[in-house]
Amino acid sequence: NNIKDIKNIKELEIYIKESISCALKKQAKSTVLGEGNINSSIMFIGEAPGAEEDKLGKPFVGAAGQLLSKMLNSIDIDRKGIYISNILPWRPPNNRTPTNEEIIECLPFIQKIVEIISPKLIVLLGATASKAILNSNVSISNLRGKWHKYQSINYNKKVDCLVTYHPAFLLRSPNFKKQSWEDLKMLKKKIENEKL
Ligand code: URA
Repeated sequence: NNIKDIKNIKELEIYIKESISCALKKQAKSTVLGEGNINSSIMFIGEAPGAEEDKLGKPFVGAAGQLLSKMLNSIDIDRKGIYISNILPWRPPNNRTPTNEEIIECLPFIQKIVEIISPKLIVLLGATASKAILNSNVSISNLRGKWHKYQSINYNKKVDCLVTYHPAFLLRSPNFKKQSWEDLKMLKKKIENEKL
């Protein structure tokens, strides 16, 4: 029962459900790992399940998820074709922002998911995802607009990462949609150039 030996999402799900105990898990209804095409070369990573996601056990199914689907459709991506996950598999109480301690506690899970999916390209939605994956406290506005590399000690590939605003933030601050659209175009260009 060691995370090192886990080979697929189902095994990871069982491992987290059976072997992990933490405060967030106790108060959540669901353990939400991810959804979509496990063979995709493209992965999107958000923050944590919200109320709808906790209820249904699936990522990005509430209002933010609907906006994410629209954003994807605007660059001809069907969400079923990519893999979508979060940094935390559990909903923080009242959707509060996860603490750094919680992010670090859950980091081995998303690192494992990246290893399993082995994407060519990762899109990081919002500050929690970019902090955790890029190991950085730099703001979204400074991280967006360029490509970053993800690597970790258990993984010998370097993965191209793009940082952009979280759809939940865009719902509250629609004037950032212009920048978000620039990021989506940058993503689309890379997908076309590299035939991903
Ligand atoms: N926000 C996230 O970051 N993830 C979800 O799955 C839903 C909302």
